[in-house]
Amino acid sequence: MDKVLQNVLIRPAVKSDCKELFNLIKELSVYENLLHIVTLTEEKLIEDGFGPNPVFRCFVAELKKEASSSTLVGYAIYFFSFSSFTGKSIYLEDFYVKQQYRSLGIGTSLLRNVAQVAASESCGRIDFVVLSWNRSSIDYYEKLGAVNLTTTQDWHLFRMDREAIFKLADGSSATKTASVAATTAATTSIEAAIAAVATATA
Ligand SMILES: CC(C)(COP(=O)(O)OP(=O)(O)OC[C@H]1O[C@@H](n2cnc3c(N)ncnc32)[C@H](O)[C@@H]1OP(=O)(O)O)[C@@H](O)C(=O)NCCC(=O)NCCS
Repeated sequence: MDKVLQNVLIRPAVKSDCKELFNLIKELSVYENLLHIVTLTEEKLIEDGFGPNPVFRCFVAELKKEASSSTLVGYAIYFFSFSSFTGKSIYLEDFYVKQQYRSLGIGTSLLRNVAQVAASESCGRIDFVVLSWNRSSIDYYEKLGAVNLTTTQDWHLFRMDREAIFKLADGSSATKTASVAATTAATTSIEAAIAAVATATA
């Protein structure tokens, strides 16, 4: 199996990786029993990662098979975030290695690359979430020095879904609001976005 590791290259993802990367993302969602909530498409992945305004970065683990053939066996998706308490941060969105290639050090190599970016960009922290049943990963992260903020600091992860976002954006949520001096441009783009969602869900 050491031979496998010798043939694995950790490198930043490129646009042409997106087909395989999307399949790995779906594999991770199956592992987490969350395939049913995946709405991303390969096209959106390309646009969001490799379009004019990329919103994420990714390292992939590429296994060279023969002279001209290779396959992706793992990946780590991350992006820069910001903490008003500690400054620039990295959010680790996905971390996955195909089952048959686990426990060879590939995952740690991927994470080391993310940590090197965090160190060189002077990030104060790397944040991520883990499902509570994923004990093997929790143990692994703790071995690397990560701390569970839910148990140590009582932080809870909250999310607004698309419906909640658009209700709040168009003013139809139940909460009282102060009068908003929205610019015409902002109002127009919210209306356009709401119209687009309405069309997509019709
Ligand atoms: C977590 C994961 C990316 C680690 O990748 P990896 O290549 O196996 O990592 P390494 O070989 O560098 O380190 C192996 C360690 O990962 C830990 N680990 C976590 N989950 C594991 C799993 N499902 N299978 C095997 N090892 C796992 C173990 O502590 C293991 O140590 P060991 O080999 O001494 O038992 C990989 O196991 C995986 O894809 N798991 C399923 C998806 C997942 O849980 N992702 C994280 C979501 S928060």
